[in-house]
Order: sequence, then structure tokens, then C-alpha cells
Amino acid sequence: YDGPITIPVVVNVIENSEGQVSDAQINSQIAILNEDFNNLNPNTSKVPNEFASLVANYNITFTLSKISRKTSSKNSWGTRDAMKSSKKGGIDATDTSHYLNIWVCEIGGGILGYAQFPGGPTSTDGVVISTNYFGETSGAYGDGRTATHEVGHWLNLRHIWGDGGCSVDDYVDDTPISDGPNYACPEYPTVACGSNDMTMNYMDYVYDDCMYMFTVDQHTRSRALFASDGFRSSFVN
Ligand code: ARG
Ligand code: ZN
Ligand code: CA
Repeated sequence: YDGPITIPVVVNVIENSEGQVSDAQINSQIAILNEDFNNLNPNTSKVPNEFASLVANYNITFTLSKISRKTSSKNSWGTRDAMKSSKKGGIDATDTSHYLNIWVCEIGGGILGYAQFPGGPTSTDGVVISTNYFGETSGAYGDGRTATHEVGHWLNLRHIWGDGGCSVDDYVDDTPISDGPNYACPEYPTVACGSNDMTMNYMDYVYDDCMYMFTVDQHTRSRALFASDGFRSSFVN
């Protein structure tokens, strides 16, 4: 399937007394996802010539369907999905075959967010974003791109360095091989494994303001999920 895709979003917010998440913050995150997945990130004009023809438009629109809120005194939820279970004090997922579930809570341990790849258990399908990095906030990770990166994983994308050295791929042909993550805001060119790294890809580890593209082959890999035999085909039926 090639055309526009609409992904309804359920935002599950677990707040404690210090970390409230406003409706405005939630709406700002939806807006950022819509920019980034429709090639409307203003920084896209900075893509170096070498990569300009590889910039993809995912043509995916995210719509806010529901906000669920719960208060909890817990301030470090970890990365083992406790926030996705009401039994564990979290919020159960809403119909993960028709909604992208985003949990917003204090993950702890300096972790910005994490995601479940397609193919995993339905009850935990979705992404988790730490409160301070959700939507428009402040600082180097305050532009809502943690969610863009995590939704990239939810759409079957690996980190561009393939989570290994120069011999490990991300299963995407047009992202150059790299040996590891890039951080902060790298100068172009940044060379690794004999080629220029695509440091501005959403699936690297740079600052929010320094990531501004997905590639054509990343898009193709993600799109396969929406084919009739794909793991996320229920979103287009
Ligand atoms: N470390 C996280 C992950 O691997 C998210 C990194 C997000 N980066 C950013 N600039 N917001 O999923
Ligand atoms: Zn990641
Ligand atoms: Ca690659």
C-alpha cells in the first residue's frame, strides 16, 4: 500500500506530583510527528547534497484519538513495560491493532524513550517516552524527536549503525554503514567505515535539532508493514 496512512494515537499519561503533562504538550507532540513523517521538518533544507535525493516522505498522518491519565507516586518505571499494565500501576494498551499507543511516564535512568518492534506481543505494542522529552519542552531533546525516533522503531527501523560495527547493517540499503551512534550535533562530513555518516537521520542519536530525515529505503521497509500480509495491515483496512 502506497497512499496516505492515518494512524490514530492513544496517549497514556502516568503523572506524579512533579511531572504533569499538559494537553498542549500532547498536541505539540502530535504536530511534531506530523511534520517529521510528512517531510515538513524545516531543518530538512540542511540535508547535504549527497543525501538530498534520499529524503523520504512517509505520508503518515497521526491523529489524537484519546488521552488516558492516571496518577502514580512511582517516578522510575524502567524499560520492562510495567507502565503498560494496570495490574502494575500503569495503563493497559488500547487496541494496538488500530491505535498507536504512546505511554508518557518517568522512565528513569536517563532514558529518553523506548519502543517495541513490530511482531511483538500486542498487549505491549507501542512506544514509551519519558515525560521531559515528550512534545515541545526545552533543551537539546526538547523538540519532540524522541517520539519520532521511537515511532521509527515501531515502524520497523533499526538504528542506522545497525547496533554493531562496520560489518553490521540496519537492513536499509541507502543508509551508509556506520560503526556506532553519533551524538550532539555532528559536522558534515562525519566519516565512519569509509563513508559519510547520515548523522541527520532520525534513527541516529544526535540532538533533536540535528535530526531531520528518513530515507526512501527506510520508508520502503516501514511501508511493507502495511501490505496485506504485513504486521500493521489492520491500520489500512
Ligand atoms: N535512546 C533512545 C533509543 O534508542 C532515543 C534516542 C532519541 N534521540 C533524540 N535525539 N531524541 O530509542
Ligand atoms: Zn532507538
Ligand atoms: Ca544501511
